[in-house]
Amino acid sequence: MPERAVGVFDSGVGGLTVLRELQYQIPGEPLVYLGDTARVPYGTKSAQTVLRYAHEAAVFLVAQRVKLLVVACNTASAVALDDLAETYRLPVVGVIEPGARRALEVTRSGRIGVIGTEGTIRSGAYERALRAGQPDVVVHAVACPLFVPLAEEGWAGHEVARLAARDYLAPLLAQEIDTLVLGCTHYPLLKKTLQEVVGPNVRLIDSAEETAKAVALKLDAHQLRLPVAANVPTRYFVTDIPDRFERVGGAFLGASLHGVTMVNLD
Ligand code: DGL
Repeated sequence: MPERAVGVFDSGVGGLTVLRELQYQIPGEPLVYLGDTARVPYGTKSAQTVLRYAHEAAVFLVAQRVKLLVVACNTASAVALDDLAETYRLPVVGVIEPGARRALEVTRSGRIGVIGTEGTIRSGAYERALRAGQPDVVVHAVACPLFVPLAEEGWAGHEVARLAARDYLAPLLAQEIDTLVLGCTHYPLLKKTLQEVVGPNVRLIDSAEETAKAVALKLDAHQLRLPVAANVPTRYFVTDIPDRFERVGGAFLGASLHGVTMVNLD
């Protein structure tokens, strides 16, 4: 088992922010990444549809004989994590629980803001995860749909991003949050702009970093870590032609992307 890869999936390029952290935090572990680029975005779709997509992605990765499944998409984690964990006989890690846990560790006032896609915010998954850890926590959640295209356009530091952030975050700042959970794969790219808008007294929580830590712990708990680093290149699969994934994904991964294979999940 340990020599098998860790399987990671997302709706597209966003999960590469999680993959990047995995490459950094568990170096030498073989990784397989699936971006469902034919059906991105998940964030605007119904829970039912995202659940179906998540199962199809999981079936594909299970067929690649992965040892652990990382749901590197907040929207899919929000609606499908429990179902996936019950269905497949392997450990499953999502991005919501690790981010929520970290937010509870750092908040002093117990007033936490959450931003994400429409689907993630509508699901209430972050509120549930935060309240499970601390029942009296005050949570304010806002969907920020424009951040996904802005990050993909390379406009994370653009004035347009700053204006959008001011508008989206104003109600959260009015609630005097001291912690803001970046509940979407794309938002780590906007960190600098978001920090400028919320000011130095609000801590940003990067789900990607926290998820990689959770994966490392889970591998150890299940004795699935490779004893000797494999140092094999990450294998990439997408469901649409790879061009855009390779071009846009580099900024999310922090490295250039090559050798991406197109697959059909049907
Ligand atoms: N990966 C998605 C998420 O983290 C954002 C992109 C999408 O809407 O598919 O929620």
